[in-house]
Amino acid sequence: MNETRVSRGVAVSSLADVIAIDGPGASGKGTLASRLAAALGWHLLDSGALYRVVGLIAQRRGIDFDDAESVAEAARNADIAFKDSAGTLPDASPIRVFVGGIDETDAIRSAEVEQPASRVAAVPAVREALFVTQQSFRRPPGLVADGRDMGTVVFPDARLKIFLTASVEARAQRRFEQLKDREASGSLRAPSDSEHENPAGSLDAELRAIRASTEARDERDRTRPVSPLLPAPDAVTIDSTEMSIDDVMAAVMALVQERGLGR
Ligand code: DC
Repeated sequence: MNETRVSRGVAVSSLADVIAIDGPGASGKGTLASRLAAALGWHLLDSGALYRVVGLIAQRRGIDFDDAESVAEAARNADIAFKDSAGTLPDASPIRVFVGGIDETDAIRSAEVEQPASRVAAVPAVREALFVTQQSFRRPPGLVADGRDMGTVVFPDARLKIFLTASVEARAQRRFEQLKDREASGSLRAPSDSEHENPAGSLDAELRAIRASTEARDERDRTRPVSPLLPAPDAVTIDSTEMSIDDVMAAVMALVQERGLGR
């Protein structure tokens, strides 16, 4: 099993190329980043997972999300490790996330952690605590970094910056399907927090609730004063509303080749 232990003291190689993939939730960034990393044989950073871990810890410990110092301390002290299975990276989020040695992959992906993650991500001291952590993922032969501020703040010198977006309807539908798939596979229970509450019990009501939660999260990510969700001036924006993941991958691979990246 390959393991990347998250640390703050690792020397950053300025030689390794970075491809930054930013955009709102459920735009297909995660799948694209993981496919791209597999195709190029590069490292992968799922920066959202780091914010999700901090959100999960804060939620479990009952830390007030507005208590910036306590939330930042949780971020600084978090013992996070990413593990994959021997470098064979399939399409969908293959990396397992361990916190304090415990596999918390399913917990951080649950609907309940989305709002806490978004709240802690708005705390400047949390972003500061995770900044060097994220940069430590930059190693030869290269890094595909997935997040909100990869191209604007964390890796401003990335060789290729993609801003992947899609309509809120398409993203809510994708999120809904992801949650259903995970629920069906037994890795996740159905959303049950107040944002995803479904008193009518209908799939329609559930989809509407996911859409409302997606919009609330987007709004918070877009309007926060630090590292707001914005395309870098030199990013290539791709709207995936009407595109399959294969179409998106083909478009990005064409850009990768154009810029002489990868193998
Ligand atoms: O991509 P995701 O849904 O796993 O991200 C979880 C939260 O973390 C989301 O609210 C946005 C935030 N985030 C961020 O602020 N900066 C990043 N680089 C990645 C994620």
